[in-house]
Amino acid sequence: MKNVLVIGATGQIGTELTMRLRQEYPNGNIVAGYIKGAEPKGIVAESGPMAEVDITNAQQIADAVEKYHVDTIYNLAALLSATAEAKPQLAWKIGVGGLYNTLEVAREKGCAVFTPSSIGSFGKGTPRDHTPQDTIQRPETIYGITKVTGEMLSDYYTRRFGVDTRSVRFPGLISYVAPPGGGTTDYAVDIYYSAVRGETFKCPLKPGTFMDMMYMPDALRAAIEIMEANPDRLVHRNSFNVTSMSFDPEIISNKIREYVPDFKMEYELDPLRQAIADSWPNSLDDTCAREEWDWKPQYDLDSMTVDMLKQLRIKLGIEK
Ligand code: SER
Repeated sequence: MKNVLVIGATGQIGTELTMRLRQEYPNGNIVAGYIKGAEPKGIVAESGPMAEVDITNAQQIADAVEKYHVDTIYNLAALLSATAEAKPQLAWKIGVGGLYNTLEVAREKGCAVFTPSSIGSFGKGTPRDHTPQDTIQRPETIYGITKVTGEMLSDYYTRRFGVDTRSVRFPGLISYVAPPGGGTTDYAVDIYYSAVRGETFKCPLKPGTFMDMMYMPDALRAAIEIMEANPDRLVHRNSFNVTSMSFDPEIISNKIREYVPDFKMEYELDPLRQAIADSWPNSLDDTCAREEWDWKPQYDLDSMTVDMLKQLRIKLGIEK
């Protein structure tokens, strides 16, 4: 991996991954791909090349790959689960049509491709606890359907055309840099903003709703390490279960209260998000990722909470 195109470089993952890749590969071109109207700003725009790349436009992908001699594409364009339910046609166009465009360019130009899958790729009939790597995947959300399709299409391109595709099933990602927006796991980000602002957090999910979560630094490491992994060791490709922690709203709010004693949370349920969360696993088994490419998270709920509160106070200019 030397010259990389990040499609979706202004999104929740892309903003941080672009910067991390520029640190890890200072001699390469790390191209921040953006859509019109969402141009990168600040450090992302100043620290390396950028290109207009709308994933629904195959020519734009091909042009950026050609111009910067790209060998690896990070395909991070997607609508998150709740937004996707509001715009299912667009979710398919970006999630599946966009992936198809990316894979076709990769096939023609010899690029490796990373496309994240998700805990949302599971659904009815999937074992909820310690969800195995290989199990039933029958999601009922359009988000999940695009993710399962993406896993299968990526594996197909590897089998059929030898394209080097790899991926992980991300849990809810928690970060303080760019907001997620429109996901079911977003509450676990929003709760920290409320805590540092001294606001009562209105939780959209009910107690007992367990989901896997991960702090962004671990997610960035997973995205880079899977692409750097020795292919001879990979039994799986698309897509590996990875996780760091599993909690419900009560557990995370109690953890925050250890550091912000007057933090308050009330429940104001969002039926759409609750239904989606209820269809997802409580906790993933990521043994295969640990065995095939030595995956290991570094953050747990406690160390993530300490860092999130600290970083958000700095970002928002709030004194403790
Ligand atoms: N974070 C995503 C969502 O909530 C799941 O992968 O939609």
